[in-house]
Amino acid sequence: MNIAVLVSGSGTNLQAIIDAVKSGYIKADIALILSDNKKAYALERAKKAGIEALFLDPGSFGSKIDFDKEIVKNLKKRAVELVVLAGYMRLLTPYFIKEYKDRIMNIHPALLPSFKGLDGVKDAFAYGVKVTGPTAHFITEKVDSGPIITQAPVEVEDGDTEDSLREKVHKEEHKIYPKAIKDFVEGKLEIKGRKVVHR
Ligand code: GAR
Repeated sequence: MNIAVLVSGSGTNLQAIIDAVKSGYIKADIALILSDNKKAYALERAKKAGIEALFLDPGSFGSKIDFDKEIVKNLKKRAVELVVLAGYMRLLTPYFIKEYKDRIMNIHPALLPSFKGLDGVKDAFAYGVKVTGPTAHFITEKVDSGPIITQAPVEVEDGDTEDSLREKVHKEEHKIYPKAIKDFVEGKLEIKGRKVVHR
């Protein structure tokens, strides 16, 4: 199966996915790594791994849908069957979501449905929760609200800072996200309404 990873930033999740593909844990090929940010360190990681990477500048497209059409064109050209968002900080248009219905996943750094939005770690830490953690989920038109594939609890301890918490959440992301992708690729995930059933 061909997969694509969409990124905007540092790409530590991308790295975990690259490593999992290289070791054979995920039996798929990364056909494309696509970034909407020219300076994303994730692009360096792609280069180091010898995987095709593409930067598309959102500013050079007339509309959000034109931008997404170009992405979808690039994904289809490479016969991509699963789109993996890994720190991709742009909302997908309904067009994109329809084209890849039930085949787009995301990792969010909080236990959804709590702390949706741009910085789930910061918001959970500021709120004073005692347990947080990442969520891997499918994308639907409603932001951060699609069927949940898996979550991992992370305890917030008294000495934690926002940074130390972010590190702990990241560490769990790097475990659960490759597993979610592996399960999808092996046909083990079934969406039943709001629920994802592991076969
Ligand atoms: C991750 O923590 C991911 O959960 C978050 O961005 C970070 C990207 O890190 N995504 C979101 O907040 C999406 N709403 P990375 O570039 O090192 O993988």
